[in-house]
Amino acid sequence: MRGVKVPRALAEELRVIMARRGVVDKTLAILDDGGHVLIPVLKEPDPEVLAKFHASTFDGQFPSRHTRTDPIDQVRASVSVPEELKLLLPEKWEQLGDVVTLRLPKELGPYERDLGEAYAKALNAKTVLRDVGGISGDYRTPVVKVLFGTDTVAVHRENGILYKLDASKVMFSSGNVDERMRMASVQCEDETVVDMFAGIGYFTLPLAVYQRPKRVISCEVNEVSYGYLVENIALNKVGDRVEPILGDNRALPGDAFADRVVMGYVKTTHEFLQTAFRLLKSGGILHYHETCPNELLPGRPVQRLRDAARDDRVEVLRFKEVKSYSPGVSHVVVDARFTRTS
Ligand SMILES: C[S@@+](CC[C@H](N)C(=O)[O-])C[C@H]1O[C@@H](n2cnc3c(N)ncnc32)[C@H](O)[C@@H]1O
Repeated sequence: MRGVKVPRALAEELRVIMARRGVVDKTLAILDDGGHVLIPVLKEPDPEVLAKFHASTFDGQFPSRHTRTDPIDQVRASVSVPEELKLLLPEKWEQLGDVVTLRLPKELGPYERDLGEAYAKALNAKTVLRDVGGISGDYRTPVVKVLFGTDTVAVHRENGILYKLDASKVMFSSGNVDERMRMASVQCEDETVVDMFAGIGYFTLPLAVYQRPKRVISCEVNEVSYGYLVENIALNKVGDRVEPILGDNRALPGDAFADRVVMGYVKTTHEFLQTAFRLLKSGGILHYHETCPNELLPGRPVQRLRDAARDDRVEVLRFKEVKSYSPGVSHVVVDARFTRTS
């Protein structure tokens, strides 16, 4: 049997494209091997599409679709929730390694423990968390409640990279997968890169694992995230080129030494532009992220770059929406070249 192996975060998008083209074998079950999803196919998919999704083909075995139960059907069958409320059971969840985070409507609140256990069983997860407050504060911390299990530390694999994190203390945005993938392909041979908001290594790791920078200086102010950043550098064996720094990026020493600066932060990113321009060499590249109301796109982020650069030059090389952030607001990334004129 022929199959396609694709990183889990990209699987649904690729499945839809292949299904539209009649490539997916719908009589066989789609499998999940942890970090990857295995999709049975009837014919060879377009190699360009496969490359875009970091997917490959292989020969293997797939069980018949009818022998497998959808996790949500398993949950529906096992929980003691009144029939009329079963319609509200979440059909989507966030899974990082073997830790699952759910959003439950308030009507299901009284059954949350039961539901935690049911989802844990159906998804083969050791721990289930309930998202009770989204992502909060300058450290971008998830606000969650443990419903089932005790161990909230997960090792999530994406695009061949291991991200270890405590899912109850540190965020991981599945929606930023395209940007993590793109960072893996940004050519930065021999460059000095500064990742100003490194977190657990969201952008540092793809860059360091797949490219050949001379040095990546990864700055993170939150001690918990910094601890995982250090662990992830070791797990992914990039300690020879990544230097983690614990502290506020505005205190990073040195001027005009970076070929590239990554600003993977939202909401107040523009307040850190003076620091980014101080660190950048003339001719260096900036990856500037911002959350912006749609009606102000693309002008506001570009204007903010120009305002912060004052008399120096900013040339926009690329502009892209990363994801929808909230209703009417987009998370965008601008790549720009910064040239000193003074
Ligand atoms: C969580 S990440 C943002 C998400 C990430 N770009 C992604 O793709 O999912 C942002 C990180 O910046 C860190 N941070 C915020 N202010 C900082 C500062 N002044 N200096 C260094 N790190 C900072 C936060 O603690 C957080 O870990």
